[in-house]
Amino acid sequence: MDVREVRDYGELSRAAAALLLEWVADFSSPSIVLPTGNTPLGCYAALAADPRARALTGARLIQLDEYHGIARDDPRNLAEWLMRALLRPLAIPAARLQRFDSSAGNAAAEAARMEEIVEAIGIDVAILGLGPNGHIGFNEPGSIFDSPTRLIELTPESIRSNAAYWGEGRVPPFAFSLGLGTLARARRTLLLVSGERKADILAETLNGPISPTVPATYLRALSGAVVIADQLALRKWRGGRG
Ligand code: F6R
Repeated sequence: MDVREVRDYGELSRAAAALLLEWVADFSSPSIVLPTGNTPLGCYAALAADPRARALTGARLIQLDEYHGIARDDPRNLAEWLMRALLRPLAIPAARLQRFDSSAGNAAAEAARMEEIVEAIGIDVAILGLGPNGHIGFNEPGSIFDSPTRLIELTPESIRSNAAYWGEGRVPPFAFSLGLGTLARARRTLLLVSGERKADILAETLNGPISPTVPATYLRALSGAVVIADQLALRKWRGGRG
């Protein structure tokens, strides 16, 4: 994998925005998978401040993952989060976001609908974050590498790490995610990792066995995935290299 070390979160955010803009310039109407979480916020803010990011108003955006069992207009659902963090600041029309319906009654049908859309559009660029347990989107440990888009039961660890966002005991237990097999078809993939609390899992992702136990290791089976990580996140990996 192409691992690019940057000094800190600010540099990571600027480097990610610059690489995304460089990549999308190769496509006339790029399709881009977008994560939520804290890590991409700086990148999204850097894009919002960059006039070149107007190119993204013609992009086709695809939501990486979404909670299930909450209202479609609940401000806590991840599509609304993406609207606030990226689409509104960049004046990208809401209709350009292919989103999961967090209120869908038939979850299997909803996952299949998104899988079909992604299959039809294709993925030019996938931007991803790394879960503290190695998850990608909500592909939790144990997710096989050819998994499709589906409804997933969150692990206790993911529920704990999302409690700050939802409040204790309020995190929805199920979520939709594009599958690892779906994401593996992306033409370009960028993983963003920041901070000391990701150092162990990033070292495992980069050096440990390639296995569904750490779903993010699927990235090593792709050709040309890029990781941008800051010094704190790469601390254990550098130690591992001696
Ligand atoms: C959210 C997502 C998750 C996060 C991961 C890291 O859309 O895809 O896999 O990327 O949980 O979250 P942060 O960035 O908050 O550390």
